[in-house]
Amino acid sequence: MSDLTDRLAALAARIDAAVAAAIDERALDDVRVTYLGRSGEVTAIRRSIGELPNAERPAAGKTINDAVVAMEASIDAARASLERKKLDAMLTDTIDVTFPPKPAILGSLHPIRTTIEDATRYFERHGFAVIMGPEIETDDNNFDALNIPPDHPAREGHDSFYLKGIELLLRTHTSPAQVRAMRANPAPIAIVNPGRAYRRDEMDARHSYMFHQMEGLLVAPGVHFGHLRGMLTGMCRELFGAEQAVRFRPSFFPFTEPSAEIDTTCPGCAGAGCKTCSASGWIEIGGCGMVHPNVLRNVGYDPSEVTGWAFGVGVERIAMTRYGIDDIRHLFENDPTFLAQLA
Ligand code: PHE
Repeated sequence: MSDLTDRLAALAARIDAAVAAAIDERALDDVRVTYLGRSGEVTAIRRSIGELPNAERPAAGKTINDAVVAMEASIDAARASLERKKLDAMLTDTIDVTFPPKPAILGSLHPIRTTIEDATRYFERHGFAVIMGPEIETDDNNFDALNIPPDHPAREGHDSFYLKGIELLLRTHTSPAQVRAMRANPAPIAIVNPGRAYRRDEMDARHSYMFHQMEGLLVAPGVHFGHLRGMLTGMCRELFGAEQAVRFRPSFFPFTEPSAEIDTTCPGCAGAGCKTCSASGWIEIGGCGMVHPNVLRNVGYDPSEVTGWAFGVGVERIAMTRYGIDDIRHLFENDPTFLAQLA
C-alpha cells in the first residue's frame, strides 16, 4: 500500500512539473493524455491492483481515484490560469481605448440631382408645377402627338429602344410627359418635367444611352417668345451665376415653330472664350420654341385661343459645365470619392 502511495506521489510530482512547463492549452492537453489517458501511467497503476490481495483492493482503488482527482484538478487550474492570462493580454495589449475611431462618411447629393433641384426650384417660385412621366412610353406620346409621324426624318435622330413584342419604347426625350399633362389638364398650363431619356447612342465622353432632360412648358392666351427668353435667362442665372446671358440660334424641331437652340454665357470664361466653349464664349444647353399648332390640336387645345412655348435642356451638359466635369461617364460610375469632391 505504501508502495502504491509512493508511486502516485511520484507521478503527481511529474505531472505538476509538466503542467508548470506547459505554455498553452495544447501543451496541457498533451500532459493529460500522456499521464491520465488510456495508455498512460495511471492506467498501468490501476491494473496493478489485480496483484493485491482481495481485501486490500477497495482501499487501493479509492486511493488511486482520489489521487487522479487531484491530478486533474491541477491540470484544470493551470488551464484556467492560462485563459485568464490570455484575457488580461487582450485587455492591455490589443485594445487601445484612446485610438481615434474611423471617421463617419457622409453621403452627398449627386450633381444631376442638385442641378435638377436648383432648376425646378426656380420654376416653382414662378408658379410652375413639377411633374414626372413614365420612362416607358407609347409611340403616340413620344412621336406622333409631337408632330413626328412614322416616316418623319426626325425619328432618325431619336434612335430608339423598342420593347420586345409590345408597341412601347423607352422615351427618347421627356416631351411625352408634356403630352400627358396637356391631355389631362385644360389650358392654361405651366409645368416643368425633369427625368431620364434613352437613345441608342454609343457611350463616349459626351454621349450616354441614358441621360436626363429638364423640360418646361407654358400654354396660355397671349404667351410669346419673350416670356421664354425671360424664364430661360432667369434659370441660367440661378444655375450658373448672376451675369449669365441667353442667346437663341435658329433651329428646327417638329413640335415647335419657330424653334431655337439655347446658348448661355460660358461660365468658364464669362464669355471671353476658353477651351470649355471652344473659344466661342457660349455653351449650348438645349432646344426650345413656340409649341406647334399641330401639337396643341393633338392634345385637344385650340391654337386660335392659346399659344405656348416649350424648352428642353440637357441636365448632364449643365451639371458638367457647372462642376467642371470633362467626361459624362463620371456621372454614372457613382465613385464615392469623385462625388464627395463635388459636395
Ligand atoms: N425634346 C427635345 C429633344 O429632346 C428638346 C426640346 C423640348 C426642344 C422642347 C424644343 C422644345 O430634342
